[in-house]
This record gives sequence, C-alpha cells and structure tokens, in this order.
Amino acid sequence: MEKRTRQPGMDFYQENVYLKWVVLAVSVLISIGSIYYTNVLIGQLRNREREQVKLFTRALEYTFSNSLDENLQFISEEILFKNNSIPIIWITRDGKYEFQNIAIDEKLPEKARNQLLKEQVEEMKLQYEPIEMTYRNDQGVLENYGLVYYKNSFLLNQLILYPYIQLSVIAIFAFISYLAFNYSKTAEQNRVWVGLAKETAHQLGTPLSSLMAWVEVLRDDPELSGRGIVEELDKDVRKLRVVTERFSSIGSTPVLKPENILQLVNNVVGYLQPRVSAKINFEVHTLSEKIEANVHAPLFEWVLENLCKNAVDAMGSTGIISIRIIRGSGQKVFIDITDTGKGMPRHVVANVFKPGFTTKKRGWGLGLALAKRIIEIYHNGRIYVKSSEENMGTTFRIELRSA
Ligand SMILES: Nc1ncnc2c1ncn2[C@@H]1O[C@H](COP(=O)(O)OP(=O)(O)O)[C@@H](O)[C@H]1O
Ligand SMILES: [Mg+2]
Repeated sequence: MEKRTRQPGMDFYQENVYLKWVVLAVSVLISIGSIYYTNVLIGQLRNREREQVKLFTRALEYTFSNSLDENLQFISEEILFKNNSIPIIWITRDGKYEFQNIAIDEKLPEKARNQLLKEQVEEMKLQYEPIEMTYRNDQGVLENYGLVYYKNSFLLNQLILYPYIQLSVIAIFAFISYLAFNYSKTAEQNRVWVGLAKETAHQLGTPLSSLMAWVEVLRDDPELSGRGIVEELDKDVRKLRVVTERFSSIGSTPVLKPENILQLVNNVVGYLQPRVSAKINFEVHTLSEKIEANVHAPLFEWVLENLCKNAVDAMGSTGIISIRIIRGSGQKVFIDITDTGKGMPRHVVANVFKPGFTTKKRGWGLGLALAKRIIEIYHNGRIYVKSSEENMGTTFRIELRSA
C-alpha cells in the first residue's frame, strides 16, 4: 500500500525525462533525414544543371562556326533560348562579355555593365569550374574560343535553403504549441490547487465549529476540571483551526501585512521543538530583532513548518536546524533554513519543487510544491535550494521584500 502511494510521483518524473529524450531523438532524426534527402536532390539537380550548361556551350560553339546548315542552326538556337533558369556568362577570347538570365539593365553603358558582369563572374568562379568553348580553325584543329561561367539557378538555391526554412518553421510552431500547452497545464493545476484547498477548508469548517462548542461545554464540567484534558483538547482544536485557515487562505487571495519575521519563526520553532526528537536542536540567528516583511502569517508559517519538517526528515534523530534571518541589499529579506542532514544529489535538487516528487516511503511530494506556490505566487518572493552537500546538509533560502 505504502509503495503504491509513493510510486506514481516518481514514475511520472522518470517517464517524463525519458519521453523528453525520445522526442528530442526523433526530432533530430527527422531533421537529419530531411536535410540528407534534400541534399541528394540538390546533388542531382546540380549535375543536371552542369549538363545543361555543357549542352548550352556546345550549342554556342555551333553558332560560332560559319559553315552551319540551317537545321543545326535552328536546333542550336532552340537550346540557347530554352535555358531560362541558369545564369550564364561567357567570355570570348577577345574579351567580349555575353550573358543570359542575369538581371542587368540593358540601358547601362558598356563599361558599367562589364563591371557588373565581372563581379558576377568572380562569384560564379567560386561555385563552379567554367566550361571551355572550342572551335575548329581553318586547319581543322580545335582551338580555345573562350570560357562559359555559370551559377546555381534560382530553383536550386531555393532547394538548398528549403530544409532549413522548413525546419525553422516547424521548430517555431512546436515552441508556440509547447508554450500554449504549458500555459493551459499551469491554469489547470491552479484550479486543482485552489479548488481542493477551498473544498478541504469548507469540509473542515463545520465539525470544527461544533468541536469548539464542545470544548466550551466540557470546560464547565466539574468532573473534568483540573485534569488538563480540556486544555489539551483545546490546543488540538486550535491547531485544527490553524490548518483550516491555511487551506482557506490558499483558496483565496490572501492579504499581506507587515510582520516581524523573527516572531513567526519563533512561533514555528516553538510548535515543532517539543514534537521532534530531543537530540534535534533549533537555532535562530538574526542581527536585528525587528526585520519585517509583507507576509500572510498563516501561509508563511506553513512554509516554514514544511521546510523544518523536511530538515527533520533529512537528519534522522540527531542534528541542528539553524534558521537565519538576514536583511539583504535592495529591500530584501532572506530566511535561510540549514540542516545537518543527508543532503541531496543533483537530480533531486533539480526536482524538489515539482508536485508529486518525493524520495520518502511515506512522502507525498507536495510540501515544497506548496511552499513554492505560497512564496512565489502569494508573496511574490523566491524560494530555492541555496546549497546542498551529500551527508553534510542542505540550505533552503526564502527571499521576501522587506516591509
Ligand atoms: N532538507 C532536505 N534535505 C534533504 N532532502 C530534502 C530536504 N528537503 C526536501 N528534500 C527532498 O525533496 C523531496 C520533496 O520534498 P517535499 O516536497 O516536502 O515532499 P515530501 O516531504 O513529502 O517527500 C523529499 O522527498 C526529499 O527527497
Ligand atoms: Mg515534506
């Protein structure tokens, strides 16, 4: 039974961590796969474009030779005009620039145009080796006629960018969905916290008022007077009232008031000291007895109680719990709770504030989740593990605004 009550919390976080890795691994695989596949396509398209430029060059060569029959001329020109996607510049051996599929203002003076073309050629040189144009001279020997430069077509350039654009869009979408999901999860958790707390306070309310009335009746009973029974009963009823008040405050918006922190700490220590092993000692340190902060006393005491109880659990039967109240810079008040207990390994520190996380056989893992909620949401403060060393001890710190 014990085991079953503890397990869900632990399993949930284990599974959660595991699931994160699976999702990450699958996303990386999909990204690599998609980039790899487009790279294969890019390679194929590259080869095809080079073949196209070669064919273009051959067609050019035909137009240079004077002894060309009509049909061949027609076919060549078909090829030349068919290329309307690959930017090409060819330079004849006498230094003349010709181009196709390059956006250049036709009205530009020759010199400016050549300058632009030269720049383009430099860019093209970086991408691909030029293709040589040849022609057959009068003696029938092949001679160099010039060079054909080209660069990627617009289509190819887009294909190179495509997987990155696609993956970024997916990543942005996934991130936004994650935020939305997280937001609705938090909203749901808030409703559960508040609803459960209100319901508990409400259910405790009725029997509590009647218990209080019964205590008054018993107080007047002459048979019971002087035996201390009614006084003990009264103490327990008071504690029940404090608990009810805590739950009802969690369910509403508590009003903060300037309170003396030392006073609240002493209340909690006074309550806990007689209830723990005699070898566990509480120490309270402060440089000033008048450090005040805006808090809701019942909720704040609940936090202190939770932290001290955890400290007791961490120490077994002997140890020291020291509580330091410190006035920090910039209107801050720190409350450090240090124990000499078993400390926490890193993966525990990373999870302590998550609801349901516990390492104890009989733990519920709600104490610190509740403490964080009370400090951060109701008090606008901060709570965190300041330090923790295995087998040495742990310090939790609460940060509040001073009043
Ligand atoms: N002072 C501490 N020293 C060592 N471990 C701690 C301390 N405080 C909290 N923890 C760890 O954090 C876990 C969660 O604490 P908590 O939310 O109060 O739930 P629970 O006390 O029910 O386990 C504990 O199970 C324990 O492992
Ligand atoms: Mg606890």
